[in-house]
Amino acid sequence: MTERMRGKAVIVTGGALGIGFGIARRFVQEGAGVLLVDLNEEAARAAAEKLAGGPGRVEVFPADVGAEETGEKAVARCVEVFGGLDILVNNAGIFPQAPVLEMAPELVDRVYRVNLKGLILLSKAAALQMVKQGRGGRIINIASIDAFRPSMVGLAAYDASKGGVVMFTKNLALELAPHNITVNAVAPGVIFTEGVAEADVSVEAFLERIPLRRVGKPEDIAGVVAFLASADADYITGETIVVDGGSLLV
Ligand SMILES: NC(=O)c1ccc[n+]([C@@H]2O[C@H](COP(=O)([O-])OP(=O)(O)OC[C@H]3O[C@@H](n4cnc5c(N)ncnc54)[C@H](O)[C@@H]3O)[C@@H](O)[C@H]2O)c1
Repeated sequence: MTERMRGKAVIVTGGALGIGFGIARRFVQEGAGVLLVDLNEEAARAAAEKLAGGPGRVEVFPADVGAEETGEKAVARCVEVFGGLDILVNNAGIFPQAPVLEMAPELVDRVYRVNLKGLILLSKAAALQMVKQGRGGRIINIASIDAFRPSMVGLAAYDASKGGVVMFTKNLALELAPHNITVNAVAPGVIFTEGVAEADVSVEAFLERIPLRRVGKPEDIAGVVAFLASADADYITGETIVVDGGSLLV
């Protein structure tokens, strides 16, 4: 793999497991310095060990993206260890299930705190640093195909949060365009991860609704994120790329 990200400093939230780990691995393979911002410190340290072979570098920053101070602190740490910040990948997200008729108010707060408020505050902190550096930057948000079509009953709060991610991406793209900072999103279909394995969903049932007849892998998302972070995507902003094996076609 080419080292096209050599010298780039990257933050990946939720980078310890699942899609986030796949994204972090891809950036390390391409030579970047990656800060894993994750609530699960043990998993993040294990992830960093797995990625220690380089060619890029990895550092761990244990934190909850929903906490108001995380953005500023994580950006400061990234600048300290990698000398700046070029790319933010807002991947951390939770998908607890409950039909609206049975939904506890606490679930609503939790979903929005992590999936939307955290993503917005991390974006703000990253953008302030990128503007200060004056050399542009990339913000890449992980949305979901559920932003466009509900996949199942029980994910209404989640689906609305991901719809919010798509629209936040567009508005922030508009605001940051004068600074040459692009803001894009990737909307995955079903990707087999630790989080999905724990959730009460049947991957087999989803399989019938995927034209390419396989469930996605974190690598399927990581490749598109790497593209959006690369010079090949210089002229793309405010866009959401669907990566779902064709699910939204049927
Ligand atoms: N897996 C899928 O099928 C799928 C589909 C569409 C969208 N997505 C989105 O992709 C993203 C990653 O999903 P995944 O399946 O890899 O999840 P996962 O549960 O396997 O991993 C999530 C990671 O985020 C971390 N995390 C959770 N809450 C956090 C917080 N508050 N602060 C910091 N870190 C936190 C976890 O510790 C974990 O390392 C999410 O935003 C999810 O909504 C996933």
